[in-house]
Amino acid sequence: MSTKIPVCILGATGTVGQKFVRLLASHPWFEVAAVAASSASAGRRYGDVVRWREQVELPPGIAGLTIRECAPPLPGAVAFSALDAEVAGPIEQAFAAAGAFVVTNTRTHRMEPDVPLLIPEANADHLVLIDRQRTERGWSGAILANPNCSTAALALALAPLHRAFGVEKLFVSTMQAVSGAGYPGVPSLDILGNVVPHIGGEEEKIERESRKILGVLGPAGVEPAAFPVSAHTNRVAVVDGHLETVSVGFRRRVAPEEAMAALREFRGSPCVAELPSSPNPPIELDSRADRPQPRLDLERGGGMAVTVGRVRPCPVLDLRMVLLGHNTIRGAAGQAVQIAELLVADGRLGRRP
Ligand SMILES: NC(=O)c1ccc[n+]([C@@H]2O[C@H](COP(=O)([O-])OP(=O)(O)OC[C@H]3O[C@@H](n4cnc5c(N)ncnc54)[C@H](OP(=O)(O)O)[C@@H]3O)[C@@H](O)[C@H]2O)c1
Repeated sequence: MSTKIPVCILGATGTVGQKFVRLLASHPWFEVAAVAASSASAGRRYGDVVRWREQVELPPGIAGLTIRECAPPLPGAVAFSALDAEVAGPIEQAFAAAGAFVVTNTRTHRMEPDVPLLIPEANADHLVLIDRQRTERGWSGAILANPNCSTAALALALAPLHRAFGVEKLFVSTMQAVSGAGYPGVPSLDILGNVVPHIGGEEEKIERESRKILGVLGPAGVEPAAFPVSAHTNRVAVVDGHLETVSVGFRRRVAPEEAMAALREFRGSPCVAELPSSPNPPIELDSRADRPQPRLDLERGGGMAVTVGRVRPCPVLDLRMVLLGHNTIRGAAGQAVQIAELLVADGRLGRRP
């Protein structure tokens, strides 16, 4: 009999849901006990419904599962949510009330004061917010949030810099892949040979979420980091991977070599570094003049590493750099799985298999 921890996937048919299926099919601690999606898909065989877009074969064990409605109870101590944000709120709350640890990729609960917004290497200490959440809401489960996909890569790269030098000002301009818009996402006639200089709500999410992630845990919850953020977001004709150009101002002058040393040496806590999904190192530096690039560097650390290049002085703020993160792995399913692994390592999900 399997000793793995059963989990379920809400929104299992979508872009992020499919990435969960792929990552969880061979996970050492978790096994997929149920997949769920909209009423239009429920009751049918997963393999017959899903428009499988991953570049590996659909795992046969999951292809044969019958898609369930997104309502508790479903088998699974963890419910990974890749739901459309328009419908996620009440569904995720119902699962948390019914006792599941909901690890969500949707924007719905991210900024609530009792919901941890986690990047395990950067702010695993924020996990304790779920104790207050469970007490105050009377839930036997809890909701834990993954940041928005562009924020996940950005805040991970900023974490060692903020810790060492104190970020004072931040400017970021993104070039975001089409898979970030889900399936079928941006119409091909809008994006082929084009750049769309607007992604609804994305700039505000980067500005708010990066400050919460890099904030300090206080008696009243997270005190957000104080630096102002100016974000510009663009959709580009790339399939996967968000590239971001960043200028940062610090409390004092910081030489590129100092910043590169902080990025290179950064590790999560020993507990986080040992999780199955944690890349080692979490941040990879590339000194080549034309890197990182989505097509060449996206799979580093199994899609969980953020690659940073072109760290150099900035004549307006202090330093400039380019970073790249995988939007559906570090920015969604991969990091959500890592958060669930953190729950196991923290003793909140029974014994480690
Ligand atoms: N794509 C990314 O890179 C990325 C990164 C970070 C976060 N996110 C967030 O993750 C979530 C999922 O994104 P996605 O890109 O995977 O979207 P998607 O491809 O559009 O998938 C949406 C999923 O939600 C399900 N769904 C839709 N309406 C539903 C309803 N009324 N009840 C139950 N399930 C319903 C769909 O099921 P059916 O197939 O049955 O319609 C599908 O499984 C979104 O909140 C998104 O903002 C996405």
